[in-house]
Amino acid sequence: MARKLAVIGAGLMGSGIAQVSAQAGWDVVLRDVTDAALTRGTDAIKTSYERFVAKGKLGAADAEAALGRITATTELDAVADADIVVEAVFEKLEVKHEIFRSLDKIAKDGAVLASNTSAIPITKIAAVTERPESVVGVHFFSPVPMMQLVELVRGYKTSDETLATAREFAESVGKTCIVVNRDVAGFVTTRLISALVVEAAKLYESGVATAEDIDIACKLGFGHAMGPLATADLTGVDILVNATGNIYTETQDEKFAPPELMRRMVDAGDIGRKSGQGFYTY
Ligand SMILES: NC(=O)c1ccc[n+]([C@@H]2O[C@H](COP(=O)([O-])OP(=O)(O)OC[C@H]3O[C@@H](n4cnc5c(N)ncnc54)[C@H](O)[C@@H]3O)[C@@H](O)[C@H]2O)c1
Repeated sequence: MARKLAVIGAGLMGSGIAQVSAQAGWDVVLRDVTDAALTRGTDAIKTSYERFVAKGKLGAADAEAALGRITATTELDAVADADIVVEAVFEKLEVKHEIFRSLDKIAKDGAVLASNTSAIPITKIAAVTERPESVVGVHFFSPVPMMQLVELVRGYKTSDETLATAREFAESVGKTCIVVNRDVAGFVTTRLISALVVEAAKLYESGVATAEDIDIACKLGFGHAMGPLATADLTGVDILVNATGNIYTETQDEKFAPPELMRRMVDAGDIGRKSGQGFYTY
């Protein structure tokens, strides 16, 4: 079977997905709306391959061949013969809806239509197509070439066959999959990190322990690579307040309610590394 992949969106995630897929032997069509976005995406891929070559992790000829398997285009019609399409455009439902409506008309019968969304329910994305059974969440993590995990998310109507094809694809590019069997807010990963960050922030807020000690507890007690409060600073306190707030709205489960401290930090602009101040000072 031809292994043709289309990636919609050549940003941080789309270019990473195109990169690992081409390296694994897939013919990749990379689509974005402007030539400038495509150039940024393909330049990022080239730079990343060069780094792997410099470190001796990839042969120069293999990097060259992988680059040769990527076709960059602004034409959506170019995805028509892809076996799998992975959408990685902005995290906005309207933008994703527009893409999936078009994919429904253009993609070949039986193609898997995947979204890399971090939080939008797959069922909502699939609902604008006539083939919701072919739509699935394939949630890669950033940076794609380094991170091993892919969270596969079943929408309400995703078929077993679609899920199996998505798994085959993710594994073919060297990733390990977990399956989210129900399309719940936050999937598995954001649910877990939200619960941990919220509890860590509450312990800190109520003076039970310092931020440093809470993070040390998770690192040395549980073997986490990074503590939850340092993770919140890295991800962005604003991003986490938003993510946990969405899960709370959907579930009404108090454990996901963003603590007052985190909400005030966002109001004050202390949102973590990107602002120079979060739970820690940078
Ligand atoms: N950044 C992360 O850490 C991360 C991790 C996991 C999942 N995600 C998800 O991946 C998706 C993409 O995120 P990103 O960080 O790569 O965003 P990004 O802003 O880096 O890239 C988005 C790209 O989509 C393009 N685009 C917008 N509309 C388009 C259209 N109609 N057709 C084709 N391309 C279009 C933009 O020009 C841009 O190049 C989002 O759904 C995000 O939630 C992001």
